[in-house]
Amino acid sequence: MEYLNDIQTYAETHSTEELLRYVADLFPGAVRLSSSLGQEDQVLTDMIAKGNINVQIFTLDTGRLFYETYELLEKTTARYRIPVDVFYPDAAEVEALVRLRGINGFYESIDNRKACCHVRKVQPLARALAGARVWVTGIRADQSANRHDMPFVEWDEARGLYKLNPLLNWTFPEVEAYLHQHNVPYNTLHDKGFVSIGCAPCTRAIEPGEDPRAGRWWWETSQKECGLHGVKQ
Ligand code: ADX
Ligand code: SF4
Repeated sequence: MEYLNDIQTYAETHSTEELLRYVADLFPGAVRLSSSLGQEDQVLTDMIAKGNINVQIFTLDTGRLFYETYELLEKTTARYRIPVDVFYPDAAEVEALVRLRGINGFYESIDNRKACCHVRKVQPLARALAGARVWVTGIRADQSANRHDMPFVEWDEARGLYKLNPLLNWTFPEVEAYLHQHNVPYNTLHDKGFVSIGCAPCTRAIEPGEDPRAGRWWWETSQKECGLHGVKQ
């Protein structure tokens, strides 16, 4: 974690694109963006592709995504002509999960929901990040109370890498303005009231003025995190 302060200082004094280039040069070939094809991830993908920045992009296909998300994945790779690596859950683990907890067992208990997120997201994430030195995410501070105190960069002890949140200080209107200005492809579900989009059975549209994450795991009162971003629930 010797570069933590350097990266943090650089992040505070440079643009998002400069920051991406800085870490890509610091750790050549070992920087990866996890993209859920969300609006923030699309901003980062646009910068990486247009700036020809050496960051590999991957997505975790849980097997339960919206059709519109797959459409956007295809549109994105066609538009930017860059690969997006797709990681899948382990087939035997999904089979065991479904046998034990049911095909839609996540509605029944938080324990079931976390088990599903673990098999479908957290474990594949570990494979996707194997060998990486930096994990880049699209997290913004004002997405949720839990994310308010997240730093630009932190040392992820469990995974042994730097976790970088280059869009940390961006507001939602800034994200929207960037997408519009650069004509970046986005998920058509956003036009139907969806804000934060995850798996289809666990995401719904929200009303104007509702909390941006209100449509995620809406039947729960938990902190609405799936385990990717290490919340203590
Ligand atoms: S989640 O933890 O609640 O699902 P959210 O949808 O807010 O996360 O996205 C935050 C960041 O987590 C994204 O910018 C992305 O870096 C990562 N992420 C979330 N879901 C996925 C996914 N399916 N594949 C790859 N990255 C993901
Ligand atoms: Fe399973 Fe829902 Fe988590 Fe997706 S968000 S992995 S369907 S519990």
